[in-house]
Amino acid sequence: MLDPYKIREDFPILKRKINNHPLIYFDSAATSQKPRQVIEVIKEFYEKHNANVHRGVHTLSQEASELYENAHEEVAEFINADGVKEIIFVRGTTEAINLVAYAWGLRNLKGEDEVLVTLMEHHSNIVPWEMLSKINGFQVKYVEVNHGETLNYEAFEDAISNRTKIVCFSHVSNVTGVVNDVKRIAKTAHDYGALTLVDGAQSVPHLPVNVKDLDVDFLAFSGHKMLGPTGIGVLYGKREVLEEMEPFHGGGEMIREVSFNSVTRRCSISWNDLPWKFEAGTPNICGGIGLMEAIRYLRRIGMENVRAHEEMLTEYTMQRMQECRKVKIYGPRDASVKCGIIPFNVDGLSSHDVALFLDNYGIMVRSGFHCAQPLHEIFKLKSSVRVSFYIYNTREEIDRFVEVLKEIERF
Ligand SMILES: Cc1ncc(COP(=O)(O)O)c(C=O)c1O
Repeated sequence: MLDPYKIREDFPILKRKINNHPLIYFDSAATSQKPRQVIEVIKEFYEKHNANVHRGVHTLSQEASELYENAHEEVAEFINADGVKEIIFVRGTTEAINLVAYAWGLRNLKGEDEVLVTLMEHHSNIVPWEMLSKINGFQVKYVEVNHGETLNYEAFEDAISNRTKIVCFSHVSNVTGVVNDVKRIAKTAHDYGALTLVDGAQSVPHLPVNVKDLDVDFLAFSGHKMLGPTGIGVLYGKREVLEEMEPFHGGGEMIREVSFNSVTRRCSISWNDLPWKFEAGTPNICGGIGLMEAIRYLRRIGMENVRAHEEMLTEYTMQRMQECRKVKIYGPRDASVKCGIIPFNVDGLSSHDVALFLDNYGIMVRSGFHCAQPLHEIFKLKSSVRVSFYIYNTREEIDRFVEVLKEIERF
């Protein structure tokens, strides 16, 4: 088991007081806090190694390039990819999904083709497909969720057909924390010759993810939700799929050669090797290095331990919340099928009122529909309050949270 009290010493922000109360940060599903190791590596990069990558022969450029490439390697090892060629650095999950939609979907989806998406997706795994379908004319089909809880696998198996070209689904729901059976979905998708795109924004930071074992074609995740800085994320893609794809953005770094024929007055372009073919322009070098440090931090703890700690916190919270008569929790009650996320409402109060009340006591939670309106519609809700945990949260914080919830009920 990990020791959250020892871990907390690495997080300077957790020493803050908010509204005269010790900060309790229960909003890690939106973005996680950053340990000083990550903050320091960013500072050190700008103080000692700052230069552009892959553009110069001078010492600083060589150092920056090596660090940036090492960051790709660290990510590849973390998710058990087949090397750096399968790891593309992007801004975050949203950009990773858009990359697949436009670089792969634009050329491969048309007419009768179908894209299967689940109703528990974050908007970032719905909107790009809907936008693209307006251009290419294919159909986006939605897989039902059982009463807003778990994915309806029978409905998925009924919906998939030879027309399905890609199945897009989250590994872990950002509203309920439900963990989907990626292997099962990927196996069925492949049986029909379809690709799989997994939104790992809420899984990669919280549980061991092994792309070979899961056998997915694409995996998207964000650095800022896993102790890293904002503005850096990852698209993993199977090498053979990425090799077949055309680039997403055009510009510097993603080309091998741009030659201009003075007779024909035409330009011919050849693409750079993977992964640089998909990383046009100056990348977020420092973000990549920060992400590498974040991953090293998580690997020292061990992802099995991260998972176990959050499961313990989730179970404890749901059990303690039962003491609150006016609180209704949504989604499954079994912590073992979830990742540290609990959505709820307090009878008679809006989610924002509850979040503001908690804020008065230094407790940070998310309120609203968490960029997942379809799932809220299934719950017949306009919004909900969401608590989400990470490695630095403790049972004492949960006790304090439940105490304040009871105060809200009295209010
Ligand atoms: C499941 C899920 N997918 C996608 C995203 C979008 O991530 P980002 O804003 O980092 O691109 C989020 C962010 O909350 C998420 O929870």
